[in-house]
Amino acid sequence: MVCLGNICRSPLAEGIVRKLIADENLDWEVASAGTGNWHIGQPADKRSIAIAATYGYDIAKQRARLFGQELFDEFDHILVMDKNNLRDVLKLAASEEHREKVRLFLTGDREVTDPYFDDQLFDPVFLTIEERAKRLIKELKK
Ligand code: 4NP
Repeated sequence: MVCLGNICRSPLAEGIVRKLIADENLDWEVASAGTGNWHIGQPADKRSIAIAATYGYDIAKQRARLFGQELFDEFDHILVMDKNNLRDVLKLAASEEHREKVRLFLTGDREVTDPYFDDQLFDPVFLTIEERAKRLIKELKK
């Protein structure tokens, strides 16, 4: 799960997916990272932690990390929140195999809006990510 800062959107995606896969006893791994380096090592934005808690998810222990090339080999699917993330991640891809792992988290060419500058967006962004996460897990189970 990849976004720009790895403090707002992708930590929500990571935390939601982690809980859903645990609830289903799936032996999968999930992580998140950012294409920007400003927040490395920091917890998620307190607004993301709060909205996650409201809906029953605990993301308080997650820490921001920078997206790095090694993740292309560690993970089967690299899901990015917006088209800038897509461009930045694809720049680091070293092979067609790497490129094929990368796609937008949402379907239909849609992006997850960056809520960083608007407190009101955290609730709708959370709900969008949760809904997609549930469908994504169903798809990946097939
Ligand atoms: P995120 O949101 O990409 O969803 O984590 C942002 C967080 C921080 C910044 C931008 C977007 N920033 O510019 O610091």
